[in-house]
Amino acid sequence: MPKSRLYSIDDFELKDKVVFIRTDFNIPVEKGIVEDHVRLKAALPTIQYALENQAKVIIGSHRGRPKENNKKEFSLEPFGYYLGKHLNCEVIFIDEIGSAIPSVLLSSLNAKKIILLENLRFHPGEEEGNEKWAECISSYVDIYINEAFSVSHRNHMSVGALPRMVKQRGQGFSMKKERDTLDYIRESSPSPFVLLSGGVKVSDKIKAISRLIDRLDSVLIGGVMAYTFLKVKGVETGEAFIQEDSLQAAEEFMDRLCVREKKLLLPVDHVVVPVNGKDKRVTSDAEIPKGFCPMDIGPRTVELFSENLQGAKTIFWNGPFGKFEDPLFAKGTLSVCEAIAQCENTFRVVGGGDSIAAVFKLGKQGSFDYISTGGGAALKYLEKGTLTGIQSLFSTEK
Ligand code: 3PG
Repeated sequence: MPKSRLYSIDDFELKDKVVFIRTDFNIPVEKGIVEDHVRLKAALPTIQYALENQAKVIIGSHRGRPKENNKKEFSLEPFGYYLGKHLNCEVIFIDEIGSAIPSVLLSSLNAKKIILLENLRFHPGEEEGNEKWAECISSYVDIYINEAFSVSHRNHMSVGALPRMVKQRGQGFSMKKERDTLDYIRESSPSPFVLLSGGVKVSDKIKAISRLIDRLDSVLIGGVMAYTFLKVKGVETGEAFIQEDSLQAAEEFMDRLCVREKKLLLPVDHVVVPVNGKDKRVTSDAEIPKGFCPMDIGPRTVELFSENLQGAKTIFWNGPFGKFEDPLFAKGTLSVCEAIAQCENTFRVVGGGDSIAAVFKLGKQGSFDYISTGGGAALKYLEKGTLTGIQSLFSTEK
C-alpha cells in the first residue's frame, strides 16, 4: 500500500488542472490599497509556478474576523488589482462563494486569467469546517495547494475539510520553507539559543516555549505577557493586564527553567501611563505603581535584553514588547529589534504581525534569516511539530 506523504506543488502535473491555492491575505489594507506584505510576497512564487505550468488557478483566502455588519471592510476585492499587477494577468473576482463556479468560466482560465474568491469567512461554513461546502468546491478542483501556513492551526473548511476531499493535495513553496525553518529551530539550530517573547497570549506562548525548553539557553519576556510572570514573582504590577488563568502555568514554567538552570529575563523597568491620564513616565525598577498601566519596556530592560543577545547563535523572536502600534510606545520593541539585527553569525527568525512590522519599519528584513508568515500558527508548530491544516495535506495520491 502506498505510504501517505506530504506532496509539494512541484510534485504534480499541473497542465490544464484546476488548482485551488489557499493563501492567507489577512493583512491590513490602507484606503483600498494593498501594500507589499510578507504574506503576499510569500504566496506569489507558488501562484506564479502554477501559472507557468499552465494550471487553471483559483485563489481562496480569509481576511480578518468579519461579522455581518462589517463585511465590506474585509473584502478581498482590492487584492485583485495587486495580484493582476504582480502576476500580469486578469483577475476574475467572485463574491458568490457559496455556489459552484460555472464550468464555462473554469475552462476559460489560463496563465493570463485567474479567479480570486471573496473572503471565505463571509460564509459561515468556513469557520464551521462545513463539509457540504467543501464537497461543492472539491467537485470542480483537481489539485489543492495550501500556501497559508499562518491559518493552518485552524480547523476551518478551506484548510481542513476541503483538502481532505481533494485527492491530489499538497503544500506550496512558502509552506515548505516555514516547516523546514521551524523544524530546524525545534531540532537542530546552533546554541546558544535565545528566545524572545512578547505580546499577550501567555498560555499559548508558554506551551510553545516549553516544547523548546531543553534547546534554549535564555528566555527574554516582555510585552503584556511579562506582567503575569512578574505577578507570580510577587512584583507590584499596577494596572497591568494579568492573565489570571495562566498564573499557575507561568509559575510552573519558571520552575522548569530554574531546575534546568536556564536564564529567564523579565522587564526591570517600564514606560507607564496613569489609567486616567496620558503623561507617560518611566519607572526606575520592576515595580509598577498602583493606578499606572505599563505600555512599553523601559531603557534598562532594552539594555539588559540587548546584552543578553550577545553571542547567541540562534534567536527566535515572536511578539512586541509594548503597545507597538502606538508610536509613543514602540521604542522598546524597535530597540530590541535593532539589537537582534546587530548580532553577527546568528540564525535569526522572527514571527508575528507586530514584530514583523518592527523589522520592516527599521528596514532590517535583510538581517533576519527567516520572516515567518505565522504568528499563532508558528507558535503552535513549535509546540506540536505540525498543524491541523498540514495533517490534512498528507495523501497517497500524486
Ligand atoms: C493570522 O493573522 O494569524 C491568521 O490569518 C489567522 O487569523 P485568525 O487568528 O483570525 O484565525
